[in-house]
Amino acid sequence: MTSMLEKLPRSCAFLHGCLVDTALNTFYAVNRGWNRILQPVMPLSFSAERAGVPSSGQQSSGFPARFVIAAAVLVTPLLAGCELRQKMFDQPSKRPYQESEFFEDGMSARPMVEGAVPRGHLEEDDHLYRGRVDDEFAESYPFPVNREVIIRGKERYNIYCSVCHDHAGYGNGMVVQRGFQKPESLHTDRLVESPEGYYFEVISRGFGRMPGYSYQLSAEDRWAIIAYIRALQLSQRATLDDVPEDIRENLQAGSL
Ligand code: HEC
Repeated sequence: MTSMLEKLPRSCAFLHGCLVDTALNTFYAVNRGWNRILQPVMPLSFSAERAGVPSSGQQSSGFPARFVIAAAVLVTPLLAGCELRQKMFDQPSKRPYQESEFFEDGMSARPMVEGAVPRGHLEEDDHLYRGRVDDEFAESYPFPVNREVIIRGKERYNIYCSVCHDHAGYGNGMVVQRGFQKPESLHTDRLVESPEGYYFEVISRGFGRMPGYSYQLSAEDRWAIIAYIRALQLSQRATLDDVPEDIRENLQAGSL
């Protein structure tokens, strides 16, 4: 009794599915030009009107044969629909992280086979993809940093980071002005002394209320941003000695 009750909603859904399938299949059949076969079972006046002949002469000739074909066209999708529906409906499937009674560990998700290699996402290079060298935060870049890289980093920083950290890195971005938590200035001694790999970690995974950016920024772009942050830090701590000699005078005269 219980099992019959349990099955009831399923059967209703199943029947409903069959009816919908049949309706759809018939609709497609008509649209595909089978309407000529189906016409005999449609209202006679309609088919006669379309054929441009008086309805009286058409009524009897060949009707049973055409009716059988039409009925077959209607019934076949019904059977096919039910048959297919049932197989698809009853297949075992699991949602992500759903438990399973079948496997001993109780999980439906299976561990990766040992030695499996992710195609297209191998990301073996720890320095480039995780900011680590020998498991420590890297203190260098995984590729040479040139002017192009820094300009790319500036562009990305201004798009993704300046909204909170502001264009110079002091943490007064527009989002902060509108009430978001103010981040520490990127010019504090602690952050200036933090290794590049630490920045990579923060940008990739996020930090406190700051979200991670690994989904929006490629690893290369994250490194480019770090290079630009270094340029920003230098710009705020530079002394006259850092300026090339030939333009120092201009600088002192205030013309630069
Ligand atoms: C939505 C605002 C927001 C954006 C956008 C944002 N940050 Fe942050 N960031 C924060 C906040 C807030 C903190 C401090 C979080 C805390 O202390 O809990 C922070 C902290 C940091 C820190 C310091 C971590 C430390 O050890 O104190 C670094 C470095 C940093 N962000 C870099 C970046 C870079 C690079 C980007 C752009 C890719 C970026 N942030 C984008 C809000 C943001």
